[in-house]
Amino acid sequence: MTERVYLPEGFFLGAAASAWQTEGWNGKKEGQDSFMDAWYKGHRDAWYEGYGPAIATNFMERYEEDFSYMKEIGLNCYRTSLNWSRFLTDYEEAVVDEEYASYYSSMIDSCIAHGVEPMICLEHYEVPQALMERYGGWNCRHVVDLFVKYAQRAFERFGSRVKYWFAFNEPVVVQTRVYLDGLRWPFHQDSRVWMQWNYHKALATAAVMEAYKKSGFKGPDCKFGTIINVETAYARTDSPEDMEAADKYDLFYNRIFLDPAVKGAYEEGFFDLLSSHGILMEYTDSDLKVIKDNTVDWLGINLYHPNRVKGRMTAIREGAPFHPCYYYEEFDMPGKRMNPFRGWEIYPRIIYDFALRMRDQYGNKEWFVAENGMGVQDEGRYRDETGMIQDHYRIDFFKQHLYWAIKGIQEGSNLKGYMNWAFTDNVSPMNAFKNRYGLVEIDLEHNRDRRMKRSAYFFKELIASRSFSYEKDEEYR
Ligand code: BG6
Repeated sequence: MTERVYLPEGFFLGAAASAWQTEGWNGKKEGQDSFMDAWYKGHRDAWYEGYGPAIATNFMERYEEDFSYMKEIGLNCYRTSLNWSRFLTDYEEAVVDEEYASYYSSMIDSCIAHGVEPMICLEHYEVPQALMERYGGWNCRHVVDLFVKYAQRAFERFGSRVKYWFAFNEPVVVQTRVYLDGLRWPFHQDSRVWMQWNYHKALATAAVMEAYKKSGFKGPDCKFGTIINVETAYARTDSPEDMEAADKYDLFYNRIFLDPAVKGAYEEGFFDLLSSHGILMEYTDSDLKVIKDNTVDWLGINLYHPNRVKGRMTAIREGAPFHPCYYYEEFDMPGKRMNPFRGWEIYPRIIYDFALRMRDQYGNKEWFVAENGMGVQDEGRYRDETGMIQDHYRIDFFKQHLYWAIKGIQEGSNLKGYMNWAFTDNVSPMNAFKNRYGLVEIDLEHNRDRRMKRSAYFFKELIASRSFSYEKDEEYR
């Protein structure tokens, strides 16, 4: 059965990206590497076909072109980051790099001039490598202060034009891949460092919120938030063991950021639990008060796929470094629908389930889907005779996720909008241009030229008509 689904009044549609994944290194000065740049230089073999942030999509030179596509599609907003490592030349004193700031300022002007609202994230993994070397990055409390100084400069320069600011994109990711799981350069495992990073980033979110409130730039229509990748956890069965596994998974990867950001505190017993595993971070009561007093206005949530877990069947070796999998094992559910290219399960209900959770467990705080999308390899094979990539699989993916988002709103969730990852194809960590996510193709064989995919026209039509046709597969065959 086909039904027409209508977007609710005021529901916005946008697309996201980040500075390091699009800009390229034009004009980058000695000492301005971000952690991502350093990882790319330090372990380039891990980056798919050697592509990385060096040229990326060459956005610095081609943003006008990208914004004109956004205008043609009618996008309401575009989220990217300000690159901390490049915006400053001195991270201690927060000295602005005028060259980069001037590019950034023109980029924001162009975005607005094309009728697209800019949304700016202050860190999308771009912690300066100099601070990694000097302080171990977010392991050090002083870096929180440096981040606040950097944010203040950003508000001074762009605060009169940018209304929507975010502290982090996916604050749990870097330390989890690096220090918890040891998957990424520079290959140093330390679960306590992992927890210290988590805590300092939660603190930095609140401290920057506090600075923003004091900055004089936070007008009545301005909002501050953070963008969290909720790894929606589903228990294998309703057995107490499986339910406990999903609960702990959620605690260590999701609530660890959701709770301080929205509730201003970690849940009761959390610090004791950390102590029992020997990973309690250093903290002060005055910093916990900053977290308490400066909760965010709203949240951006990145939702891609569900995570299925079960209670542990095997024992953990005594003395092994702590890992949240102390409480769970991954569960490979038979029959799950897959995106075979990315290896991620497709389960559009994640948006609905999270929407109800925000309604019921987080005081119905405002939120939006800050990233959702489908990464597909070798998309050139779907090109038609006119040269356009016919990505109907992505259109189906959008429709299914939007359908469940709207259902969540109908049931009372304060869900404000939906953003696709990403506007153009871009460089992902390690996956570089492997998983293509864009509405607009980046043609690596032809000078990174841009071309709208079929999904870009779907978005255009969706925005113009504020509705889409949805095929409900309910037939028993
Ligand atoms: C998100 C990140 O988690 O996933 C992005 O915010 C990233 O930075 C995106 O590019 C897609 O990643 P991947 O590895 O599937 O290409």
